[in-house]
Amino acid sequence: MLWIKALHVIFVVSWFASLLYLPRLFVYHCDVSDEAGHARFATMERKLHGIGNIAMLGTWIFGIWLLTLEPAFLHMGWLHAKLTLVLLLSGYQGWLKGNVRKFAARQNTRSPRFWRFMNEVPALFLVAIVILVVVKPF
Ligand code: HEM
Repeated sequence: MLWIKALHVIFVVSWFASLLYLPRLFVYHCDVSDEAGHARFATMERKLHGIGNIAMLGTWIFGIWLLTLEPAFLHMGWLHAKLTLVLLLSGYQGWLKGNVRKFAARQNTRSPRFWRFMNEVPALFLVAIVILVVVKPF
């Protein structure tokens, strides 16, 4: 159980590294005008998102594995709330993929300010999910 939990948390941290940094790359990419800079950012964004996908998959696999070891959690409110937030976060990961493609095709229409704002969204999820799973308030 503890080894699976450790692996779960390692994948969670890796996923969040990508969730927190990708919109930050978008902020800087908005200001790039030269061809070489654009290509460099597009490559970094694609690779970072790919690593995020793998980390998200690992988070899900080891999270579900933990549930099979402790099925009583399935009846608890904190887990339902946590899974709802994690599903939304997985949707956010998919939405970022669409934007990686848009940036690569020079079709981003959003401002750096918008991406700065989106940068904060995963941080809010992180705070809520960690409180739910550690404090288990309900
Ligand atoms: C992908 C779906 C997920 C499932 C099914 C899942 C499920 C679980 C389960 C069953 C535990 C064990 C809880 C315990 O022993 O008290 C756990 C631990 C944990 N999860 Fe998740 N989790 C998922 C995603 C996440 C995400 C996205 C985060 C972070 C934002 C996260 C953070 C944690 C942390 C920090 C622990 C360790 C808590 C402790 O040891 O007290 N999990 N997870």
